Amino acid sequence: MEIFEEIEPLRAFLKGKREALKSIGLVPTMGALHDGHLALIRASKAENEVTVSSIYINPTQFNNQADLDKYPRTREADIKLLEAEGCDVLFAPQNAEMYSENQSLTFDFGTLDKVLEGKFRPGHFSGVALVVSKLFNIVQPDMAYFGQKDYQQFQVINRLKEELKFSIQLRSVPIIREKSGLALSSRNQRLSEQDKGNALFLYETLIEAKAQLLNGASFSKVRSEAEARVKKYEGVKLEYFELANKNTLQELGDTRNFKNGILLIAAFVNEVRLIDNMLLEVE
Ligand code: PAF
Repeated sequence: MEIFEEIEPLRAFLKGKREALKSIGLVPTMGALHDGHLALIRASKAENEVTVSSIYINPTQFNNQADLDKYPRTREADIKLLEAEGCDVLFAPQNAEMYSENQSLTFDFGTLDKVLEGKFRPGHFSGVALVVSKLFNIVQPDMAYFGQKDYQQFQVINRLKEELKFSIQLRSVPIIREKSGLALSSRNQRLSEQDKGNALFLYETLIEAKAQLLNGASFSKVRSEAEARVKKYEGVKLEYFELANKNTLQELGDTRNFKNGILLIAAFVNEVRLIDNMLLEVE
């Protein structure tokens, strides 16, 4: 695997690949890689001749300094995993390579980034859009791969692509879960075994809610029950649990029309903030 920390040598390398008509897939990550990321690498390898992964903990998308400081950093293990998966290129820049000292650009996605994650993490999606634009511009991939776990992020990046006319096909890869149902996340590394048991609240709530909604219960009732059940999970604090339109992410309230419905949930397990989601997939 070729490793680049600087933009220009990476550009020169990829120019050669493009001239040889090789298609390029990009898998942007913040490291602390797990099987969910490796599924993105596999998806890219299946569709492209060259797979570029990036590892960059992007400071502008963290609205909480402690969260940024505690984000797991496992560079050597990540490199081994990428090599074992056959990733061709790793781009792992430092902050100075990605941002100027007086960086002040921001993005506003209207109603799309004011709800759910955007409501609880102001500025988060502006930072995501900024770094993803930079990565798209540097790598100029044919395709880019993102995990469905960050569902709202994918919708924001899709809007970014449309607005900035990036000629890149975006792929959303399904959530990979532990056997227990817990969605894989780099943040899981910060959970004790006991925390992991309590973190099942998120998945269990989604499963239970989907069954109840399809059985005729209203979302208000389903949400009240979730708010009551959370008390049984030690150290878990529910931040939001919503039924939304899967394209606009606006709340659906007590609708019975679930065709475009998605359930989205966020909760703290002690200090660790986790998210998960589940499409209702009703025809
Ligand atoms: O999903 C992530 O890991 C990050 O938000 C991303 C897309 C790599 C941008 O920093």
